[in-house]
Amino acid sequence: MDKFVVSGRTRLEGSVEAAGSKNAALPMMVAALLAKGASHLGRVPRLRDVRTMARLLETLGTRVTPEGNHLTVDASALTSVEAPYDLVKTMRASIYVLGPLLAREGRARVSLPGGCAWGPRPVNLHLQGMKALGAKVEIEGGYVVASCPDGLRGADIVLDIPSVGATGNLMMAATAAKGTTRIQNAAREPEMPALAAWLGAMGARIEGAGTSEIVIQGGAPLRAAEGDVIPDRIEAGTFLVGGVLTEGDVTVTRCAPGHLTALLAKLRETGAEITQGADWIRVRGASRPAAVKITTDFHPGFPTDLQAQMMALASVADGTSVITEQVYHDRFTHVGELARLGADIDLDNNVAVVRGKPRLSGARVMATDLRASAALILAGFAAEGETHVSRVYHIDRGYERIEAKLAALGGVVRRENEPLVT
Ligand code: EPZ
Repeated sequence: MDKFVVSGRTRLEGSVEAAGSKNAALPMMVAALLAKGASHLGRVPRLRDVRTMARLLETLGTRVTPEGNHLTVDASALTSVEAPYDLVKTMRASIYVLGPLLAREGRARVSLPGGCAWGPRPVNLHLQGMKALGAKVEIEGGYVVASCPDGLRGADIVLDIPSVGATGNLMMAATAAKGTTRIQNAAREPEMPALAAWLGAMGARIEGAGTSEIVIQGGAPLRAAEGDVIPDRIEAGTFLVGGVLTEGDVTVTRCAPGHLTALLAKLRETGAEITQGADWIRVRGASRPAAVKITTDFHPGFPTDLQAQMMALASVADGTSVITEQVYHDRFTHVGELARLGADIDLDNNVAVVRGKPRLSGARVMATDLRASAALILAGFAAEGETHVSRVYHIDRGYERIEAKLAALGGVVRRENEPLVT
């Protein structure tokens, strides 16, 4: 296993380019299953999760050819409809294959993803939606076993929760459902219009993606297409938070400022100076950030995927911050680790009260999930001395070349091998 050794106190300064969005690339790769032919994606981030998804698609019989940040998915012929536990347990997004397999093959056997570090993360909304589209869905031996021998038919679906995964899965399935499908209370995250545009390039007829109501006219055969992945708003946001937290001066280029309005509003509240253009954002954290109140919510609310990073910032802010996590009921595994760096945090259910301190002190900490890893690295820049962040395989899932990008900002992070403690 690897660990990162982070040198503090560091002021991040300079410019980095946003990578393509992990959470857009993954469903777009899966959508290629809907067409017989080779689809080409550009600006695909080189990440562990993308490699995992490529392996999953290959077990289904596609040929996936990565070339730098380009990726071809040739789904001319499928040889399996099974997403095995060993792959699905490492990446929940594997559940995305359920819809396209039902759409194309009329059956699917997909392992249930299981929980993650912060809760059960059910997929009931995916399954209820597929049933609404006419599929028979059973759970057998930890697998979702689904079939629709008479094909899928359009339906009106109302999601209890505006789930990103369920919205994407059902949008893909509905492209093959005869008639009209309406998804209400749909997720509005930018990755949804991105997926809809990609399906549109393949020939699908989808309206309303990005709003709470998406209408899909199904039944048209889809064809292979080519297109680029949108910028990663969470990666971009992570670097921007780092710029403010270290009282630095950070610019992120080739990003989408319109996807980060909630974060930018909060960073302005900390006193940071923010300027932006069509595809760039610059933050200058002139002095110690002021404390803030944050409540995570579905888009366009404050993104849960930037909650841990903002908690690192709150740990050194001037004043007491209150951070409420509404999307997941237990996304606080980073609290104990930040406390090891000297952060003063009280947790009561889903509310963290963070009393900011002028500085933290370096220590050994453990990454527990993707975004918590990023938060611990940022906190390490604000800590005196070295911070050792273990289990950084989490961060390799969602951040492309993060050491190089941080180094470009003056952040000193060394990757070292860490013997497995038995
Ligand atoms: C996506 O996960 C992202 N992952 C997550 O990012 C992100 O945190 C999440 O959306 C919320 O924005 C990808 O896009 C690959 P949800 P997803 O379904 O689709 C509950 C990262 O760091 N729910 O929108 O799994 C669920 O438990 C990752 O890149 C159900 O109850 O999230 C959660 O409380 C972490 N039943 C809420 O809805 C369901 O069937 C939102 O989950 C589905 C979800």
